[in-house]
Amino acid sequence: MKRNPDRSPLITVLRWTSYLLPGDFLKTFFYLHCVAAPRRILHKLTSSFYRMDPLYQVLSEFKRDFNGPFSILEFGTASGYSSAKMLYATRYLHMEDDVVIHAFDSFQGLPPVPGKEDKGIVSSDWQEGQYRGDYERLCAYVESKGYKNHRIHKGYFEETLTPELLEEIKPTRPIFVWVDCDYYEGTRHLFEWLLPILPSGCVFYFDDFEFNYGSRLTGEARLVHEVNQGAFGDNVELMHDRSLSLDSDRVYRFMRLADDQVRYDRKPSPAWEGTPRPIGNGSPLP
Ligand SMILES: C[S@@+](CC[C@H](N)C(=O)[O-])C[C@H]1O[C@@H](n2cnc3c(N)ncnc32)[C@H](O)[C@@H]1O
Repeated sequence: MKRNPDRSPLITVLRWTSYLLPGDFLKTFFYLHCVAAPRRILHKLTSSFYRMDPLYQVLSEFKRDFNGPFSILEFGTASGYSSAKMLYATRYLHMEDDVVIHAFDSFQGLPPVPGKEDKGIVSSDWQEGQYRGDYERLCAYVESKGYKNHRIHKGYFEETLTPELLEEIKPTRPIFVWVDCDYYEGTRHLFEWLLPILPSGCVFYFDDFEFNYGSRLTGEARLVHEVNQGAFGDNVELMHDRSLSLDSDRVYRFMRLADDQVRYDRKPSPAWEGTPRPIGNGSPLP
C-alpha cells in the first residue's frame, strides 16, 4: 500500500487499531470509550470555564497596572452567593480599600418574561419570582463579615439606576460588570445607564449568555450583538475576551474610540531606554 505523506501519524495508529477490531459494534465501542470520552475529559480539564476565574484575574490585573479606586457592579444578586465571593476576593487580594462592590436587585425574584426577546426558543423559560432573595439576610451577612466595601441597591433597575447614583459611582471606575439579571430588557437598561462612565478595558461578564445557545436574537447575547452592530454608537464595542472566557462566550471587554476622560489611571511603566534591542539577544526560544 502506498503511504499518503499528508496523513497524520495519529490517523495511521487509529487505522491499525481498527484492523484489530472486527465489526462495527467493537469499532463504535472503542471510538466512544477510548477516543471520544478521554478527549472530552481532557478538554474539560484544561478549558472549562469557572465564573470566579475572571474575577480573580481581573482584580489582579487592575491591582498590578492601574491606580484605584475601582468598582464592581453586580446586576442580579438574589441571595448574594456571587456577591459574597466577590467580597472575599477583594479581601484575599488586599483590595478592600480600593474596590467598592455595588449589588443591584429587587429581591423579588425575576419579573414576568418581559417580551419575545426573552422567550426560551430551545432553553426553558424562567419563572416569575425565581431567585427571590433575602435583602435583610444579605445585609446581616455583609455586616457579620465586617465588609465595608459593599453597597446594596434594593429595587427594580427602573428605580435604582438614577443619574445621581451614576455620578456617585463615576470616580470609582467600574472594572467588572457582572450581568446576572437574565433578561435582555434588564441587560439593555443597565448598559444604557452605565455607558457614559465606562472606561475602555472594563470587563463584562454575562452569566446567561448561553440562553438559547447564545442566539443573537434573545437574552444577554442580543445586547452584545446590538452593541456590536452600532445600536449605541459606532464607536463602542464589546470584544470577546478569549483568554478570560475559556470555552465559554461569557466575558467581554468594553471598548470606546473617543477622546474621553473616562479612563483608568495607569501606573507608570518603565520608560523606553532609547536603545534598539540587540540582534540575537539570547532569547531562550528559537
Ligand atoms: C439569577 S439571579 C442572580 C443570581 C446571583 N448573581 C448569584 O449568582 O447568586 C437573577 C436576579 O436578577 C434580579 N432581577 C432581574 N431583573 C431585574 C430588574 N429589572 N431589576 C432588579 N432586579 C432584577 C432578580 O430579582 C434575581 O434575583
